[in-house]
This record gives sequence, structure tokens and C-alpha cells, in this order.
Amino acid sequence: MHRAAIGIFDSGIGGLTVAREIARVLPDEDLIYLGDTARLPYGTKSAATVVRYSERAVDLLLRYPVKAVVIACNTASAYALDALRSHTELAVLGVIDPGARAVAARTRGGRIGVAGTEATIRSGAYQRAIAAALGLDEPSAAERIVARPWPLLVPLAEDGWVDHPVARLTLETYLEPFVAAAVDTLVLGCTHYPVFKPLIAEVLATRFSGCPITLVDSAEAVTEELGQLLDARGLRAPAREGRRSFFCTDLPERFQRVGTVFFGGDVAPVFPVDL
Ligand code: DGL
Repeated sequence: MHRAAIGIFDSGIGGLTVAREIARVLPDEDLIYLGDTARLPYGTKSAATVVRYSERAVDLLLRYPVKAVVIACNTASAYALDALRSHTELAVLGVIDPGARAVAARTRGGRIGVAGTEATIRSGAYQRAIAAALGLDEPSAAERIVARPWPLLVPLAEDGWVDHPVARLTLETYLEPFVAAAVDTLVLGCTHYPVFKPLIAEVLATRFSGCPITLVDSAEAVTEELGQLLDARGLRAPAREGRRSFFCTDLPERFQRVGTVFFGGDVAPVFPVDL
């Protein structure tokens, strides 16, 4: 079993930021990544649709030899995690709880920001998980947690505009309510946001006079928990060079080309699949 792969599911290309972190921290592991590019974006869809799409995709992933599944997509983690866990005995990790625990460990003053897709923010999943991790009751959570959608970052990232003046202006606008609310920690609750980390840091430094907001990347948090889970269950791969396979449901050439921005390296081989 320990020789089986880590299955990674995302609505499309962005989850390659999670795959990248897993490949960096756990280089011996084989990775099988499935991006549902035919149905992207999930972040503008209803809960029922996100659950239905995620179930189909993860069922396909489970046909491959995998030993654990990571739901890299924040929107799918927010709505579909319980449903997906009922499909398998394997461990299925979402990104929201690890992200919330990382926030609780890092906040200094307990004022937290959450940025994500419209659906993720609307679900309230991060807000609830952070409140639980910090032991906050509902009124204190409402006062201390500021959550906002950042929808424009998804197309900007997919067009490679990660350091473009349009991205800079967008981030100035998006960061403003978090700075005004004096948050000290901000969760990047969407697969596409980690590629903007350098620009976010720069905008905070220049436009907001060095406002000290700590960024929490759910990709890092879930990778840490995945490593602990593999250790606890004796599932670590033997020392070797992990193999990567990528599947997507539409436009494999685009997936490969745009994917390199998110994965930070060659995305190959890519196989088209139908759900
Ligand atoms: N993967 C999605 C997420 O992390 C972002 C892209 C989409 O809307 O499907 O929420």
C-alpha cells in the first residue's frame, strides 16, 4: 500500500499549487492529479453542483492505485468533503481544516482574514473551522473573522498575470478591507492565490506602509498534515524519485502550458479523461 500514489483532486489547474508543495516536501511520493478543467470554475457554482462534480471526479481518481486523497480545491473542500469521505475507506484530506489550524497557530492578535472564491466564502466553512480552532463563540467569531471573495484572481492567474499592474490594482482593492479591519493573519483560501504571494507582500509593503499581515497558505498546511498522516499509518513511500501523472477533463495542452506557472516545473504526462 505504501507504494501507491497520493491522489490529488482540483476543479482545474490551480490545485497544482498544492501538488507543487506536496512534491517539494514529499519528493518520494508518486502523485496522480486530476483537474476537472471541463467544469471549472467551481467557485461560482451552487453547493449541490460542486458536490455532484466532486463526487464524479474523486470516483475516477479512486480507480487508480492511491493510498490517500487530497482535495486541493477549497470550494470542493468546503462543500463536498463529507460526501467524498463516504465514498472510500482511504484518508481524504481537505484544505480547510489544515488551513484553519495553521491560522490558529500563527495569529498574534486573533484578528483573521479569509479570502476565497465566492462559493467558499458563502459556505462559511473557513469561518467555522477557524472559530473552532480558536475556540471562539459565534459573536466573537463574527467580530474577529473578516471573509471576502477575491474572484478576479482566478482568471488573472490563469492568464499568467501574477505580476501585472492589473493584478497589483486588484490586490490593492482586495486587501483594503483586511487592512482596515486590522487583521494580522490572512488565509489564502483558494488554489490560485499562492502564486500572488510575492505581489501581496509587495502591495502590503508599498501601498499599506508595511502592514504586517501573515499569509497562511492552505497548500503548505495540508501538506504538513499529509506527511503526518503517512507517517502515522506507515504509508510513506520508499526512498525513490516520485512519479507524477496528470489527468484533466478538457484542453490538455492548455493544462500543460498554464499548469507550469502553478506547478513551477514541467507538467507531464497529461492524459485527457472524461467523467
Ligand atoms: N480550485 C478553486 C478553489 O480553490 C478555484 C477555481 C474554481 O473556482 O474552480 O476554490
